[in-house]
Amino acid sequence: MKLLVIGSGGREHAIVRALKRSPRAAEIHVLPGNGGIAEDAICADVAATDIEGAVAYAREQGIDYAVVTPDDPLCLGMVDALAEAGIPAFGPFRRAAEIEGSKVFAKGLMKKYGIPTAAYEVFDDAPTALKYVESCPIPVVVKADGLALGKGVVVAMSREEAAEAVRNAMVSRAFGESGARLVIEEYLTGPELSVLAFTDGQSLVPMVSSMDHKRALDGDEGLNTGGMGAVAPNPYYTPEVAAECMEKIFMPTVRAMNAEGRPFRGCLYFGLMLTKDGPKVIEYNCRFGDPETQAVLPLLETDLLTIMEAVTAGRLAEVEVKWADKCSCCLVLASGGYPKSYKKGCEIHGLVNGQLPGGEAEVFHAGTKKLPDGTLVTNGGRVLGLSVTAPTLREAVEGAYAAAEKISFENMHYRRDIGARALAAAEG
Ligand code: AMP
Ligand code: GLY
Repeated sequence: MKLLVIGSGGREHAIVRALKRSPRAAEIHVLPGNGGIAEDAICADVAATDIEGAVAYAREQGIDYAVVTPDDPLCLGMVDALAEAGIPAFGPFRRAAEIEGSKVFAKGLMKKYGIPTAAYEVFDDAPTALKYVESCPIPVVVKADGLALGKGVVVAMSREEAAEAVRNAMVSRAFGESGARLVIEEYLTGPELSVLAFTDGQSLVPMVSSMDHKRALDGDEGLNTGGMGAVAPNPYYTPEVAAECMEKIFMPTVRAMNAEGRPFRGCLYFGLMLTKDGPKVIEYNCRFGDPETQAVLPLLETDLLTIMEAVTAGRLAEVEVKWADKCSCCLVLASGGYPKSYKKGCEIHGLVNGQLPGGEAEVFHAGTKKLPDGTLVTNGGRVLGLSVTAPTLREAVEGAYAAAEKISFENMHYRRDIGARALAAAEG
């Protein structure tokens, strides 16, 4: 089969490498891909948000099946457009992608169907929102309604910070129209869990759980990023917690989307917090998480293409999804300065054909570019993900850090404590 993957991050590279293991994947194309993905697939210069461009490309190349993973093309309706062109694709239709595209929609869904989440209010204008934060309990969490490149959430520890977040989103319009409405919600505490799940709108199969590390610096200091590393499985996701999530959160969400006439087919991402009152939803994503996918997919034993096609065809229940009984760690190597400004175009040392010659880790490329002379250079904030699987979490974490020693580029930055919290929980 000829496959098409949309996107250019470490997540897409992990998906490409998992699809490549399928005996049925004859050819994989990626739009637009990056310097490392180009070692594994045919990349072409069509932006991930270019719906018409992607459909035209898929037609020209005779693509049999597409995989759409980033949030914006999903929310813009790329799966709908491909389907209209007769090309089946993995990912939700636009109306179902709304579960990530609008926090107001997601919160309303949870409220209506009794799915546990933080208490909240919705605001359409700045004066009312500002008045609310003058007297609401603090800390409080201010969230832009729409997509904001992962930057639309502020956990405000003071009233001033909350007011600043409101003004930034609603008055300065830092996230454009995404900040026209705000969700202001109760501050929850507890360990965070990420659960990605395959669902065809009827069955739901959770993948191995994981833990993201969102802040830029050690000890969960610094700004929120797209994610600086992930480990899987998440030790807080015990069989009891898993059963409770399935009963109170996962299946109720699938049923709620059906009841709303928005059946969800694809990968549904549950960002959860394990509070003293049980697991609660922090956020839904309509797609695979990044970097979680880079830790989770290397543990998948079943053919990913078979699972994805079953999801699209509504026959997920027929597939047995198997996972290696191992642990995994993905360590992100970033450009110094990320998530603020950083330098691009720095030569990356230590890789041969995009991978470590000693095979110490599987290297997933995010912000990399290959120059015409073959030099691999940095081209984004998150540059590489180093993924290691091992019998124990400790070995996986140590393996990822040992692999990082073999790679260098100017201003390379990575957290030194990826997996530390999970190890403390797992090893007591
Ligand atoms: P999100 O972009 O929705 O994943 O939010 C980014 C981060 O903000 C989450 O990973 C949490 O650490 C934090 N966060 C979001 N909502 C809440 C909340 N209600 N209480 C505490 N922390 C939160
Ligand atoms: N790692 C969180 C996300 O993909 O949104």
